[in-house]
Amino acid sequence: MQQPNWLVTGGAGFIGSNFVRSVRREARFGVVNLDKLTYAGHLENLTDLADDPGHHFVCGDIGDATLVDALLDEYRPAAIVNFAAESHVDRSILGPQEFIQTNVVGTHTLLQCVLRYWKSLDSSQADGFRFLHVSTDEVYGSLGPQDPPFTENSQYRPNSPYAASKAAADHLVRAYHETFGLPVLTTNCSNNYGPYQHPEKLIPLMIGNGWAGRLLPVYGDGRQIRDWLYVQDHCDALRLVLERGRAGETYNIGGDCERTNLDIVQELCRLLDQADPAGAPHTRLIAHVADRPGHDRRYAIDACKMQQELGWKPRVSFDAGLAATLRWYAEHPGWVAAVSAGAHERWLETNYGGRDPAAAPGAAG
Ligand code: NAD
Ligand code: TYD
Repeated sequence: MQQPNWLVTGGAGFIGSNFVRSVRREARFGVVNLDKLTYAGHLENLTDLADDPGHHFVCGDIGDATLVDALLDEYRPAAIVNFAAESHVDRSILGPQEFIQTNVVGTHTLLQCVLRYWKSLDSSQADGFRFLHVSTDEVYGSLGPQDPPFTENSQYRPNSPYAASKAAADHLVRAYHETFGLPVLTTNCSNNYGPYQHPEKLIPLMIGNGWAGRLLPVYGDGRQIRDWLYVQDHCDALRLVLERGRAGETYNIGGDCERTNLDIVQELCRLLDQADPAGAPHTRLIAHVADRPGHDRRYAIDACKMQQELGWKPRVSFDAGLAATLRWYAEHPGWVAAVSAGAHERWLETNYGGRDPAAAPGAAG
């Protein structure tokens, strides 16, 4: 008998490609992977699946209703997992329009198509069907130093255009459940790190700059706190939510691992010193640059619901995950070069050029 399919959107990006890989490793579900291949999506993230007959890659937009309808019709998925999004806060500050287009309008178009499809299913298929929307803790805004971590009941207070666009999408997903009965699940996860993360995000950027002896640009005082989770732990959590979560519910996923940005950069410097003693001490490369406007001070997730309802907790410690991540980047220079080609240099100039020329990441260390 043929395997049931899942439709994964944004599966050529960082988390999506890790998710698709782990689903195909188990080989219980076929994957139809719909991705627009923006600056963040790369087929290089999926090279090991190139010959996998259970992985069908389609280059396209979640906002293209004709395409999405055709894919639903052809592959009859038992679930949809929606990773597709514009995802980088700094890009949302410099150009918010694309965030509204994909994260809000695109997600809504996808929901409309999925609702039509779900209504066409027979009752046993419709009962088992799930739409999992992958979202972020950034919808909850910023915590004070003494505040308890975000729960599923925390108020939405998004501060960046990225967070606001994800919040809008979350509300639409919820509305499609409340109004039309679509069996949705929403997850709000903290900061991920690990293999295949785009080189412009904090941890890969610092690894790449550190190896190259370039400055390590820390926004503002660097005391902002994030709650870090290894990407495979996130993927495992999503599998549990998809298979055992209750329709209509939201689940917060986090690493119980609060670190300041400066802690992270210093820890990376320590690891770089070990790997490249000639460049030590890498802390000499740390440069404080102009802060991000509206920069959230602290995120932290209370993941008790995940633990109590689904028995999930993170398995990879931060120390082990960070060391593994650094090793992965060191062993994959070809991947870094391929996904950084062209547009990445322009991005570095756009984002860092105006902050403080002496401290821009391209400047000599
Ligand atoms: P990413 O930017 O690496 O990947 C996003 C993918 O979506 C890319 O492959 C891109 O090509 C694709 N895409 C963009 N617009 C599209 C469109 N209109 N149609 C189809 N595909 C499109 O992002 P990521 O870090 O892998 O995040 C994936 C999801 O998880 C996002 O929804 C993000 O909001 C959420 N999330 C990310 C984190 C994190 O720390 N990275 C944490 C919590 C939640
Ligand atoms: P980022 O990886 O962009 O994730 P997010 O903003 O979604 O949390 O950034 C993580 C943190 O690192 C955030 O507080 C901003 C900070 N940061 C820097 O200090 N310097 C940088 O060059 C980058 C990219 C991020």
